[in-house]
Amino acid sequence: MHHNSSKRIVIFASGTGSNAQAIINHFTDRQDVEVSHVLSNNLDAGVLEMAEQKGVPTYSFTRNELYKSKEVLEFLKSIDPDLLVLAGFMWIIPENIIKAFPNKIINIHPSLLPKYGGKGMFGDHVHRAVLANAEAESGISIHYVNEHYDEGELIAQYKVSIDTGEREETLVEKIKTLEHSNYPKVIDQLLFPKNS
Ligand code: GRF
Repeated sequence: MHHNSSKRIVIFASGTGSNAQAIINHFTDRQDVEVSHVLSNNLDAGVLEMAEQKGVPTYSFTRNELYKSKEVLEFLKSIDPDLLVLAGFMWIIPENIIKAFPNKIINIHPSLLPKYGGKGMFGDHVHRAVLANAEAESGISIHYVNEHYDEGELIAQYKVSIDTGEREETLVEKIKTLEHSNYPKVIDQLLFPKNS
């Protein structure tokens, strides 16, 4: 039930929320897109404080509210978002939410999937593995989230080259920069396909 023509997105995040921040910044001053809520499983997550400072409403939930009681599902239905954006969200999205929002849930992963994805491949583990394997390049993947963990359709990938002797810290910085400049743009294009 949309009461006006603007698009609504929600962001799921568990941590610092630098991607959430980039997305919120991208859509500030936009009349046609509303970042409706930042949702988190983690009450202590920096992303909640950031969102509050930016005037974006927050919603936190427990494991039970996500997986058992359908609280989160009902909350999302009441918002009726056009897109559910995962940005450093550390829990699996349950099937009832995936079914309720087909092709409307996206995630960002800090590697060139299918490489360095799947179980245990999050945060610094990804970059360490990439460097340990002496890869010449890495990058980011933006993909749909479906019932099959890490098998959702790819939407976009962006690459960075890895220098000889590249350190983990600098690789992390390159990847973050790539994420912050591209995730908001891809979201924008998904919301307004004609602009592409
Ligand atoms: C990002 O690197 C993202 O690719 C991964 O988790 C990280 C989240 O960072 N899924 P932040 O909380 O947005 O700073």
